[in-house]
Amino acid sequence: MFSYRLISTGDSMTIVVRMARPEDREKALWVESKSTPNLRYLPFVFDMFIDDRVGEFSVVELDGEIAACGKYTIVPDGTAWLETLRVIPEKQGFGLGKALYEHWFELARAQGVKAMRMYTGIDNVVSSGLAERYGLTLQGTFKGATLPVHAGSGERGGFVPVPDPKVAADLLMPLAGDWLGWLVMNRTFYRLSPALCADMAKRGMVYRDEKTGSVVALGARFMPEQAMHVGVWGGDPDTCLRFAHWKAAERGVPQLSCYHEATATKIGKELARNGLKFDASDYIVKGIYLN
Ligand SMILES: CC(C)(COP(=O)(O)OP(=O)(O)OC[C@H]1O[C@@H](n2cnc3c(N)ncnc32)[C@H](O)[C@@H]1OP(=O)(O)O)[C@@H](O)C(=O)NCCC(=O)NCCS
Repeated sequence: MFSYRLISTGDSMTIVVRMARPEDREKALWVESKSTPNLRYLPFVFDMFIDDRVGEFSVVELDGEIAACGKYTIVPDGTAWLETLRVIPEKQGFGLGKALYEHWFELARAQGVKAMRMYTGIDNVVSSGLAERYGLTLQGTFKGATLPVHAGSGERGGFVPVPDPKVAADLLMPLAGDWLGWLVMNRTFYRLSPALCADMAKRGMVYRDEKTGSVVALGARFMPEQAMHVGVWGGDPDTCLRFAHWKAAERGVPQLSCYHEATATKIGKELARNGLKFDASDYIVKGIYLN
């Protein structure tokens, strides 16, 4: 997919949204360093983002200079995930965020995408207001929790991988009720679906322990060296979390991470009981269904 869109030409400014190219790396990283100085992961995912030919890593040029970027990603269930939206502070409020949303809506329409979602921090009124301006409404509020991992932690138990996509879906889909239909990895808030379960099974992210009747989906969408993300579990929570802990330690990953919908309070209690500490503020997901 190739795209290049002239959004507006006025006396004062020209906004162009286009697909990012390898040579945009330095500028895109610079945009992120200025717009989200405390959340910088583009250096780790830039290559993966520009290699995406189903979705698109987009940059916005204002009068010929890159001033914003963002990623439109198609997730396994065929819906779009809008992420990594960044505009340099000097050019915020000039319509670059809106240009990206308009561009992504065009891509979604062209691809027949049925839904689009994004997340932001609960206090990010601009990001949230921008999403609402384009008709995205609140779909969930989330709590995130982490735990440092030390060598030799956790317990392997009797877990074995579940490589079969259908078996994985049969094991994971019944957990949708407990998790309110969400599975989160790397702050990518997926709707739990058979297609997602199949994708995770293929990536070696689904494990079961027949003895305790437990199942867990864990791993990372990107940056596997930074955190082990626990997507969902079923059966015995302590056994699953001990296994996740063991798996992280085995791979030398320094942190366990898990997100849950805020009203799934049972999950929250199980995380707290296992020593995970909750982030200071919550996250929200907004989305829209398209015809
Ligand atoms: C959030 C961000 C991407 C928005 O981009 P932007 O280019 O500044 O936004 P635009 O000028 O295109 O659009 C602004 C729109 O946001 C909304 N908005 C702005 N301020 C708002 C406020 N205080 N309350 C509610 N909505 C607001 C409005 O809909 C506005 O459009 P309108 O005035 O025409 O109605 C940008 O500010 C940014 O990069 N922030 C830091 C990084 C960040 O928070 N990224 C987001 C996700 S983690």
